[in-house]
Amino acid sequence: MTTIAPPQIRTICCIGAGYVGGPTMAVIADRCPDIQVLVVDMNTTRIAAWNDDDLAKLPVYEPGLDAVVGRCRGRNLHFSTEVDAAIAAADMVFIAVNTPTKTRGIGAGQASDLRWVEACARQVAKAAVGHTIVVEKSTLPVRTAEAVKAILEAAEDTDTTRSFSVLSNPEFLAEGTAIRDLENPDRVLIGGESTTAIHALAGVYGQWVPPEKILRTNLWSSELSKLTANAFLAQRISSINSIAALCEATEADVEEVARAIGSDSRLGPKFLKAGPGFGGSCFQKDILNLVYLCRHFGLPQVADYWESVVALNTWHQHRIAALVVQKLFGTVTGKRIAILGFAFKADTNDTRESPAIRVCRDLLEEGAILAIHDPKVDPDQIALDLGQPVGESWLHCDAVADAVTGADAAVILTEWQSYSELCWDALAPLMRQPAWVFDARAITDSLAVCLAGLNHWRVGCGMV
Ligand code: NAD
Ligand code: UDX
Repeated sequence: MTTIAPPQIRTICCIGAGYVGGPTMAVIADRCPDIQVLVVDMNTTRIAAWNDDDLAKLPVYEPGLDAVVGRCRGRNLHFSTEVDAAIAAADMVFIAVNTPTKTRGIGAGQASDLRWVEACARQVAKAAVGHTIVVEKSTLPVRTAEAVKAILEAAEDTDTTRSFSVLSNPEFLAEGTAIRDLENPDRVLIGGESTTAIHALAGVYGQWVPPEKILRTNLWSSELSKLTANAFLAQRISSINSIAALCEATEADVEEVARAIGSDSRLGPKFLKAGPGFGGSCFQKDILNLVYLCRHFGLPQVADYWESVVALNTWHQHRIAALVVQKLFGTVTGKRIAILGFAFKADTNDTRESPAIRVCRDLLEEGAILAIHDPKVDPDQIALDLGQPVGESWLHCDAVADAVTGADAAVILTEWQSYSELCWDALAPLMRQPAWVFDARAITDSLAVCLAGLNHWRVGCGMV
């Protein structure tokens, strides 16, 4: 353990300008005006979008992000593709690159693909100057820091003017509320061996986060805590969605059940909203990674337990698509169905693992013609996710009214605020009767929908 005073951090480099790197570094730059923050990425298009004069064109849509970037960009926040130069200039390098599920080889379908993290470690090993604190910001399997350290130590051996400390500092922001989460986090977690390095990173966060919210652990606890937090959160969603299915079969109402159980202070009210199943780039990936690790460490029962959280989620999404088919007289072939919302949750343009993908693919498989509306998702992204270009089997609509015109059903899959304010009296006459509203987010007023002459289904509501 080192005991010297923590180094003053003057320059930070963040490798990865994605949903985590961009917003996180923007908030650090905003709250730490004395630190120069260099965000680098090998994706030139993404960097160009971060540098666009028009803040509406930033590559990540997050409420409040444009204002933060607008304040700091060009002052102490810089986006570039000059990775080596940024590493060389930095006292601290964050690694915030993607760690998706492996698609081939050992652990395919479960383990995280660490090739981009390893590439970053090697690039830091090559380009760093003097002492560099390397911070794992990506979500990583427990004990990944061992590999990062091994690569950096090899670099120390070949050039003794360089040295490294490795910290784990997982990110807990949720998309759609990223700026709020970063500005006022429940906690900041720092795992590491060097108290000097931990102090240095705590000093950065300490410029706006109260000290009692900065938790210090060992490296491995920090890495594992991130996977565990996501597993527990996702487990709650699978739990409530399982009960939603039971409610639909028994005339109970999942919203009432959620309120009743959420009033128990031991359970709490958050994360009990039944929906179309969890999406997003993190939950499924991180649980599958946990499952892989458990099997690797000889704990098959623990692996099976967590795997069931993902299995329930997958089943629930297929269940919603099947239910739409069943209510529309058992066939949707050639029928137009309006899809309201494609993002995995409201207030983001991210579609990774969005429930809409599975539901839409199932409906397309049944021969439906989908008219898709989302206020923020680019149609090119939808085409990629559905594996087919816009055209015969699906259309993109800029307005909800266009999407529902001639449709037998509207399926609400994202909880955009604007969808809760729709005037069904005006929309109903545009639809082919008898028509349905399938509300997988429970944001519509069932009475208003029914009074408009439409059939209504709401997730977890067994009352007819
Ligand atoms: P992302 O795909 O949006 O961004 C990652 C970026 O890293 C990409 O732009 C990619 O081009 C860049 N990159 C990859 N390798 C590079 C390299 N060698 N050099 C330069 N750039 C490189 O991913 P994200 O959503 O920001 O997630 C990043 C990490 O944070 C993941 O491990 C994820 O699990 C974790 N995380 C994500 C969230 C979230 O809400 N998205 C929340 C918490 C944690
Ligand atoms: C999650 C974690 O919340 C965050 O801490 C971590 O850093 C990254 O992963 P994110 O995936 O961005 O964040 O969003 P989150 O709000 O957790 O929602 C994930 C999915 O669960 C979404 O599809 C959302 O619609 C769904 N969800 C969430 C529900 O269906 N019901 C709920 O009650 C809460």
